[in-house]
Amino acid sequence: MPLARSLSVTSLSGLEDWEEDFDLEDAVLFEIAWEVANKVGGIYTVIQTKARLTCEEWGDNYFLVGPYMESSVRTQVELIEPCNPALRRTIDKMNASGCKVYFGRWLIEGSPYVVLIDVGFTAWSLDRWKSELWENFSIGVPWFDREANDAVLFGFLTAWLLGEVTQCDSPPHIVAHFHEWLAGLGLVLCRQRQLPVATIFTTHATLLGRYLCAGNVDFYNNLAEFNVDKEAGDRQIYHRYCLERAAARCAHVFTTVSKITAIEAEHLLKRKPDVVTPNGLNVKKFSAMHEFQNLHAQSKARIQEFIRGHFYGNLDFNLDKSVFFFIAGRYEFSNKGADLFLEALARLNYLLRVNHSEVTVIAFFIMPARTNNFNVETLKGQAVRKQLWDTAQTVKERFGKKLYESLLIGQLPDVSKMLDKEDFTIIKRAIFATQRQCQPPICTHNMLEDSSDPILTCIRRIGLFNSSSDRVKVIFHPEFLSSTSPLLPMDYEEFVRGCHLGVFPSYYEPWGYTPAECTVMGIPSVSTNLSGFGCFMEEHIADPSAYGIYILDRRYRGVDESCNQLTSFLFQFCQQSRRQRIIQRNRTERLSDLLDWRYLGRYYISARHMALAKAFPDTYCYELQDPTSGFRYPRPASVPPSPAHSLHSSPHHSEAEDDDEEERYDEDLEAEKDRLNIRQPYSSTYRLQNTV
Ligand code: UDP
Ligand code: G6P
Ligand code: GLC
Repeated sequence: MPLARSLSVTSLSGLEDWEEDFDLEDAVLFEIAWEVANKVGGIYTVIQTKARLTCEEWGDNYFLVGPYMESSVRTQVELIEPCNPALRRTIDKMNASGCKVYFGRWLIEGSPYVVLIDVGFTAWSLDRWKSELWENFSIGVPWFDREANDAVLFGFLTAWLLGEVTQCDSPPHIVAHFHEWLAGLGLVLCRQRQLPVATIFTTHATLLGRYLCAGNVDFYNNLAEFNVDKEAGDRQIYHRYCLERAAARCAHVFTTVSKITAIEAEHLLKRKPDVVTPNGLNVKKFSAMHEFQNLHAQSKARIQEFIRGHFYGNLDFNLDKSVFFFIAGRYEFSNKGADLFLEALARLNYLLRVNHSEVTVIAFFIMPARTNNFNVETLKGQAVRKQLWDTAQTVKERFGKKLYESLLIGQLPDVSKMLDKEDFTIIKRAIFATQRQCQPPICTHNMLEDSSDPILTCIRRIGLFNSSSDRVKVIFHPEFLSSTSPLLPMDYEEFVRGCHLGVFPSYYEPWGYTPAECTVMGIPSVSTNLSGFGCFMEEHIADPSAYGIYILDRRYRGVDESCNQLTSFLFQFCQQSRRQRIIQRNRTERLSDLLDWRYLGRYYISARHMALAKAFPDTYCYELQDPTSGFRYPRPASVPPSPAHSLHSSPHHSEAEDDDEEERYDEDLEAEKDRLNIRQPYSSTYRLQNTV
């Protein structure tokens, strides 16, 4: 029995024991995705954050399979000899037949095993495999579609790998979980070759959905009407669409990440998902309460430093009264709602000006585009800031020396002589260095497609140019953040913590990790009722805005109306006092349990049980039941509908009364979590019985 090893399913650390005694002793889980140890977007986040829990459940019987990408492997993976005899034989055999397959540990929480396949190395097989694909499935992949070619190579190689594993003496029960169309062909081949493998396909979006929405189609009102083959053909993605649809149709169990995408999949892929598997996060609880608030203050101070440099010479607004908004993610201008955000910012700018607000909004756009690196003006800003800092330190030291000397002789210092002529020269020179002829830049990088870039084009149209009179300033950082950046040396998590509000007004968003990540860090966010996350929160929380979860209506309103609603959310947010923001962050952070894999992981578990029972009905059986039916956080009785209208704006309430109110609120929420059993391990009636 080379692969299977005994696994105690009662070993989920920190959680109570499972109630059922199902037996996974004889089972092995392969999870296959193009984003294993390869960051592209949210699928990477799914795999990476879920790893710890899945490792706890499956131990050494869990293997992630992904593409070999040298740069990622160098920084994220420790290559080792395969730990498992069957897998070692499989990998040796494949490598002896002209493949390059690596085995290692992915250096993330849980340290899962990874099998990484160098698809480029086997490109010599591409034509043969494409012919096979055509002959057996009538799917023709054009030579110029590089991504689809990779999908073909990856698909044939993963099916080869699984096929070899099933050839070992007394093979285990294999569950193979494939994510997204890029990995889907492996599943189709497993079924065609009739491998004894329980297969799951999870789609994180549909190809057609993404393309149709990006093309300004009235998507949700016409879901049932689309002629899918024609639409795919018109967009030259018919072959990709066929791969995706085949995977969805062939899988023992088909899942997707939200109810809204489940409806989309039913219409566009012609199969209703068996299970909805919402995305979770690996939530870390701090030992000290409100430690996340301190982290906010620390990160905010670092963003403020950056702002000081970026706006040098034009720093005519009060940083202490500034709030930081941001949007981040893959650069899909209208799907991610960057268009709506910009329009709402223009309206907000007007509102803040006519209301003579003291608040300044800095809106960050973190969306990777093609660039030629940082631009000179932006780098200069940080250099000038550094120079001013150094000047201040020099003068401070000289000042300190004089003060010290006067103290030594027991005299009060003559304040008029504390700064001499030379000091003033240094100071004046520093001030002169801050003069600039242009406005602070909008974009931090040299854009390759500057004149046609959608964000820049929109900014030119709405006229938000970072001028002194603007109460809303915009900074476009067309690259993902990194702690090694010379400009803004912060990783994404640190940056989010330092901001005040994440704004994600997506039109097409099957889940949307970015607002979920804000929530677990205690940062309020705007999402929409067209995003999986927004719908999930709306379903499970009676009054989301009371928790800092603003859900924009993009489903039943026209664009202009949605934009007005977004503007009012933003304006309302700007009117909050610091104290109100702090209270709101506390409320937001308390929702993290709802987004923890420890809670949401149960949907993945039920999908696996279902697949095992379908593929090996003589060995496993299960009873279907919604793991969380009827679950909903009510609006706590003590909480006003939204923090902006809360008691804090009422003159009759003292801070002590406010604190009492928050304490009651806390108790309500905690009692509700207990009532809903949200912190308990999954204990439904899904039963997996080894009946042999
Ligand atoms: N992200 C990141 N660095 C950044 C901005 C975003 O790592 O500078 C990550 C973010 O943490 C999130 C992912 O990109 O996990 C985006 O996932 P989401 O589901 O929101 O959108 P997708 O790109 O998959 O459509
Ligand atoms: C956290 C810190 C406080 C700080 C506050 C600033 O709560 O613990 O010390 O005053 O953040 O909040 P703000 O919303 O103004 O960034
Ligand atoms: C996709 C979707 C995104 C989702 C992610 C993870 O990339 O666009 O909304 O959060 O997958 O499921």
